[in-house]
Amino acid sequence: MSRINTVLSRVPILDIFSNKKLIKNNFINRLGTQPFRIWLADKRYALRSKFLDESIKGHIETLQKDGVVVIENFLPQEVFDQLEKECKEALKKEGRSRRRQDGPNEYSNLSIRNLGDYKTIQDVFHHKEIEKLFKAAERRNLNINQITRLLSCLTQGEDNGTIDPETNLHEDTFFNTHKAWLYITDVEMKNAPFVYVKGSNDHSKTDRLKKSYEYSLDKNNIHSRRISEEQLKELGLEETIFTAKKNTLVLANTLGFHRRMRGEAGNIRIGMAFSARFNPFL
Ligand SMILES: [Fe+2]
Repeated sequence: MSRINTVLSRVPILDIFSNKKLIKNNFINRLGTQPFRIWLADKRYALRSKFLDESIKGHIETLQKDGVVVIENFLPQEVFDQLEKECKEALKKEGRSRRRQDGPNEYSNLSIRNLGDYKTIQDVFHHKEIEKLFKAAERRNLNINQITRLLSCLTQGEDNGTIDPETNLHEDTFFNTHKAWLYITDVEMKNAPFVYVKGSNDHSKTDRLKKSYEYSLDKNNIHSRRISEEQLKELGLEETIFTAKKNTLVLANTLGFHRRMRGEAGNIRIGMAFSARFNPFL
């Protein structure tokens, strides 16, 4: 009995059933906890109600199949023109509340709270179709206010010998989780387009259960799981680069492998970013 108690006292139950990417506990990882979490989160996702509105059915089918969907001309032109104006004004006027250096590049953002004075920005942050898309993607009866919403700006810097970690292919976490970006600027090769490996949201295509076990035992596993170009080739998968016109909405399941390209110094990408990260077991 006391041996069982000793074992149980070493098992962080709350962590196992949380949305933590990995559990830093070699003992339970050796028991295969990480593949078990993936398997269970997947089962839970499959059992959830679909909350699928007929008007977005085609988009959600593409998302389920490829892990990513692109919706061009998302807003009516006159609404987008006003949005573009407000976003540029806000970035100029409000400063950038949070700046982060990602290798040579600078990433900054303004949260929804910093943007109360901008009507069109607020309208888009509360957009009904974006709420519908997230409801169906996450399979949750969620409210758009439960989603993180930012106005973000990525500036490509001069090569300084460092690497932007976001340019490495990675998965964000071990369960279905979604992000969307509405582009305010055209996204070309020079301003670091989004890259996604279509189909890598499907565990069977990425050998995820087995690899997650190995990865959970790796002492250096502080970041989201990475994958090399060679490993991708071995899996028979390939990247798709998503250059896009402004006013395009990209919705991706960031369980699948993704990254951003390296751009050219001095180029800026502005977007409205939406992200959901719930507990996959609830
Ligand atoms: Fe990511």
